[in-house]
Amino acid sequence: MRRFKNILVTGGAGFIGSNFIRHAFERTDFDGRIVNFDALTYAGNPRSLSDIEAKFGPRYRLLHADIRDASAVREAMERFEIDAVVHFAAESHVDRSIVAPDDFVQTNIVGTFNLLQAARERGGALALFHHVSTDEVFGSLGPTGFFTETTPYAPHSPYSASKASSDHLVRAFHDTYGLPTTITNCSNNYGPYQFPEKLIPLMILNALEGRPLPVYGAGLNVRDWLHVEDHCEAIWTVITRAESGSTWCVGGRNERTNADVVRTICEIVDRMAPPLQSGAPRASLVTHVADRPGHDLRYAIDCSKIENAFGWTQSYTAENGFDQTVRWYLDNHAWVDSVRTGAYRDWIEKNYAAR
Ligand code: NAD
Ligand code: DAU
Repeated sequence: MRRFKNILVTGGAGFIGSNFIRHAFERTDFDGRIVNFDALTYAGNPRSLSDIEAKFGPRYRLLHADIRDASAVREAMERFEIDAVVHFAAESHVDRSIVAPDDFVQTNIVGTFNLLQAARERGGALALFHHVSTDEVFGSLGPTGFFTETTPYAPHSPYSASKASSDHLVRAFHDTYGLPTTITNCSNNYGPYQFPEKLIPLMILNALEGRPLPVYGAGLNVRDWLHVEDHCEAIWTVITRAESGSTWCVGGRNERTNADVVRTICEIVDRMAPPLQSGAPRASLVTHVADRPGHDLRYAIDCSKIENAFGWTQSYTAENGFDQTVRWYLDNHAWVDSVRTGAYRDWIEKNYAAR
């Protein structure tokens, strides 16, 4: 088992990164320090970790910095004597990559390259560089079959092409320079603290407010939904136990069409929240809109490698995971309001500008 003293988590103010930091402090035996290296883009919200900051004080540190800045990356690794990098920071939304791909190239490819270079300069002091990647690098499945660790890469969107490129760089640094690396490619995450541009939180909040629920095309595209806490446990398992140079597919064994996901969310919101003024069920808010260009039909992961090697498995079912997530968005008004209104930006200016 690897043990780490000082982990650099990039993108730790985002959805999965913040859940990962909480997981490391509260659900593992980790007793070191985490430096959260985050540029606080529209998707980064330090409020997602204010409880962790209060509880774990000096062992948790937010560094407001950008992975596109090579010298900031190098300086952070040296100053905090980093022995492991867990790399989440990315532009993560496919629709944004279609409209404006530039940042995806700069952050996802150049930013990853900067991190790899700085990690290499740490020499033997660096125990592991872990790259958090996606199943979208494998392209699209037809109605049958699964992605595995040996599926050839075939990305379609600017987002997935940039993630594929960063995966290749990580492998190249392992194979060429002997950098100790691991990669996870996982399916669609859902759960607390997800920015409401992604399907599930967008549908929950729009359904609550009685706004239209935009389903792309016929809603027949399939995604494999994984609860974020199960993903974080898979990452923790890999970084502590997997051999250098290995890659791991992580999925939810929970395939659903988008239409089915939206219908399920509507039913849960109807059950948990007061009825709409009109009295109509929330499913009546579904509006079919123009399809996403190049929309991948189906993603599904065969995660038997990580299940067989380490006994990792999903702890959430679709039913209790979706219920828990809707409940979280209903109960966490302050976080939701800050994200909806952009108010957390003021908070960032006040608390982090000078650091
Ligand atoms: P997110 O968009 O919620 O968060 C991204 C974080 O990265 C934010 O905190 C943002 O401020 C930070 N960031 C962006 N650009 C940066 C830069 N240049 N320098 C430093 N920080 C920067 O993303 P997420 O959904 O939490 O995804 C995290 C990682 O997991 C990404 O690499 C993504 O590709 C991967 N992934 C996500 C999913 C999913 O379903 N969300 C599935 C598979 C893989
Ligand atoms: O598969 C892993 C990927 O999952 C991650 O790498 C990405 O970072 C993450 O954003 C996610 O990508 P998707 O494009 O699959 O997620 P998104 O939530 O944007 O969309 C899920 C599905 O729902 C997709 O088929 C598009 C559809 N959709 C999405 C939105 C936002 C809609 O029908 N309506 C919407 O309003």
